[in-house]
Amino acid sequence: MTVKARRSQDHTSTGITIALSKGKLLGPVLHLLKQAGYYSPGLSAESRKLVFDCAANDATFLIVRPTDVPTYVEHGAADVGVVGKDVLLEQGSDVYEPLDLKVGACRISVAALQGQPSPDRWSSKIRVATKYPNVTERYFNQRGMPVELVKLYGSIELAPIVGLADRIVDLVETGSTLKAHDLAEVEVITQSTARLIVNRASLKLKHEPVQALIDRLRAAVAAE
Ligand code: PRP
Repeated sequence: MTVKARRSQDHTSTGITIALSKGKLLGPVLHLLKQAGYYSPGLSAESRKLVFDCAANDATFLIVRPTDVPTYVEHGAADVGVVGKDVLLEQGSDVYEPLDLKVGACRISVAALQGQPSPDRWSSKIRVATKYPNVTERYFNQRGMPVELVKLYGSIELAPIVGLADRIVDLVETGSTLKAHDLAEVEVITQSTARLIVNRASLKLKHEPVQALIDRLRAAVAAE
């Protein structure tokens, strides 16, 4: 069945639509899904198509930008989704989050140019570049440190090098991008891993297939 034929908000359908984050998470998440019995021939981290059928489970995969996954799930365009905790913390989406998939481990950290002194917390605002403005503002507010946010969409590590910001708040996985730009991790704000999220209506109206996916994925995570 195609996505066109089964709009997810049609809760009379028994199949489920699963929104997956393209990029770094896709490979490890596809592996887990395959272990759980959810598989679509042709779907790999390299494929360019955006919609794939999983005939064995009457499911459909959508491949979307990581930051868009909560939107698809919250609005019911997908019944479930897989997305990093970093994105959920930033967006504060109204979805269920029943399962930590324990892949894609990374952290959101504050970083600065090597050797740069710590800002005096009572001095004037420090400028912080990030693609996580909400997480960043909350973090510095809790410490009573006024900040000026510079919202960027990528290549955050450039900001301190060109004088656009005093600090950055960004994802760190191996730390090699920071190192390559002479940046030091100053403080870890929070850890992040991939999470399974579920639309609130789908959990009730498509309880059986959604619960089956949760149970089978939970077993796959435990077996890793
Ligand atoms: C992320 C993040 C860092 C990098 C961290 O960027 O923003 O730049 O990965 O990984 P590392 O610690 O293993 O070096 P991404 O590749 O998602 O691209 P972006 O800069 O466009 O956000």
